[in-house]
Amino acid sequence: MIVFIKNLKSRLDPDADSTQPKRDARKKNIMIDFELTQFQEDHLPSATALSTAVGWSHRQTDWAMLLPFSTGVVAQRNGDVSGTALRSDFGDDLSTINMVIVSPDTRGQGLGRKLMAALLDTTDRNIRLVATRSGRPLYEKLGFHEVGRLAQHQGVLTAAPEFIGAQAAQLADLAKIQELESQSFGGDRSALIDWLADNGQLAVMRSGGEVTGFAGCRRFGQGHVIGPVVAKGTQDAKALIAHHLRGLEGEFVRLDMMRNADLTPWLVEVGLFMTDQPPVMERGTISTTADRLAVFSQGLG
Ligand SMILES: CC(C)(COP(=O)(O)OP(=O)(O)OC[C@H]1O[C@@H](n2cnc3c(N)ncnc32)[C@H](O)[C@@H]1OP(=O)(O)O)[C@@H](O)C(=O)NCCC(=O)NCCS
Repeated sequence: MIVFIKNLKSRLDPDADSTQPKRDARKKNIMIDFELTQFQEDHLPSATALSTAVGWSHRQTDWAMLLPFSTGVVAQRNGDVSGTALRSDFGDDLSTINMVIVSPDTRGQGLGRKLMAALLDTTDRNIRLVATRSGRPLYEKLGFHEVGRLAQHQGVLTAAPEFIGAQAAQLADLAKIQELESQSFGGDRSALIDWLADNGQLAVMRSGGEVTGFAGCRRFGQGHVIGPVVAKGTQDAKALIAHHLRGLEGEFVRLDMMRNADLTPWLVEVGLFMTDQPPVMERGTISTTADRLAVFSQGLG
């Protein structure tokens, strides 16, 4: 896919005062064409540099794990990556949008909207995303509305909480974990659970021999991420999270909880502070279950 953005020039303010450096910079950028191409593996180093520049902690390997699940687009000028966006499809009709980034010197010229259009205009799928403060106005203009909030918890774990009852998952548990994850998310997540089984750890809660909940854990950024957490209530969720926290004392840990899961005081007590409460936004009709207490990630939901 190749789209040249020529219409940026029409956004030039005819009254622009050339003595104002800000407007000069904008004008200069507007004169340059951007090329939108499909995201490929060889864009990974530039994309990682871009996300690092906006303060996100993704390593190149964290970007790379997204690609098998995603269709992506990059904006380039003179060979440099100035923008990225990914759409990750799960099942027949649900996708998440993630890694929407425009380099700081290029913002406010319509590139973010173009990247989103490249991913959305070709589909009528239902879409979910987690918005940042700078992304929210763009998403609202594209028809997204807030459906809830996350509670982003992170920090260096001071002590693993004493909560027992969860066990390491067995191979025979995978099908049930895939079912619980897909129901609570609203789309088929079998492949993502397979990835987690191969690249992280899975813990389960059982009742009468049946798996009734699970939680994943994997390496990410500067430490570990625990999620998704799908559980029948707070006590089960605590047992699943505590299972993964054991052995991570002194390490950086992150969890993106659904805010209504209400585990904040319990997590803060062990050094996992709440650093943000970003909005979850959706476009379309998506049904899920109430058992989803933490997401896999903000990007993949
Ligand atoms: C979010 C981001 C990608 C937007 O990129 P951008 O190229 O500046 O966006 P655009 O210029 O296409 O602007 C998109 C729309 O949002 C509007 N907008 C942007 N900021 C706004 C604000 N503070 N208030 C109201 N509207 C705003 C613009 O006017 C534009 O609307 P229009 O097309 O109708 O004129 C960019 O700010 C960014 O990379 N931020 C850091 C990373 C990030 O947070 N990404 C979002 C992840 S959820």
